[in-house]
Amino acid sequence: MVLALGSDHGGFALKEEIKKYLDSRGVAYHDFGCYSPESCDYPVIGKTVGEAVASGEYERGLLFCGTGIGISLAANKVPGIRAACCSDCFSAKYTRMHNDANILAMGGRVVGPGLAVEMVALFLDTEFEGGRHQRRVDMISQIEREYTGK
Ligand code: RB5
Repeated sequence: MVLALGSDHGGFALKEEIKKYLDSRGVAYHDFGCYSPESCDYPVIGKTVGEAVASGEYERGLLFCGTGIGISLAANKVPGIRAACCSDCFSAKYTRMHNDANILAMGGRVVGPGLAVEMVALFLDTEFEGGRHQRRVDMISQIEREYTGK
């Protein structure tokens, strides 16, 4: 699995921590920026990582901003993206099992690195359950089609 990573300045430090964890596990990733704590705009990175995952080149994504919210909102505007902003392990696990989330977003000003590592582990290691949940995910895609015409 190759991951697409991205953050704004508010999530930069947490992203660097998660990169250390991914390195220790041998998980491959590409970091789409930002590359310093200098202020930048989260919608740009959210869109870029969303497109990278939606293209199929990257299986899943990890996004970080101050709250995790703004950057997940931006990524979710890309058709095919199901970005879940989480700050607890239960949500990080069940958004894979029930929503087939393809991006996990976290807030660098909300969660510490220890909790973030646990959430990333659950997000990477938990499979989608399918079944009745597939039908509901398909319903989300149908809403998308109604608005994009695709
Ligand atoms: C940047 O100050 C902050 O607004 C951003 O990181 C994020 O929290 C937005 O949702």
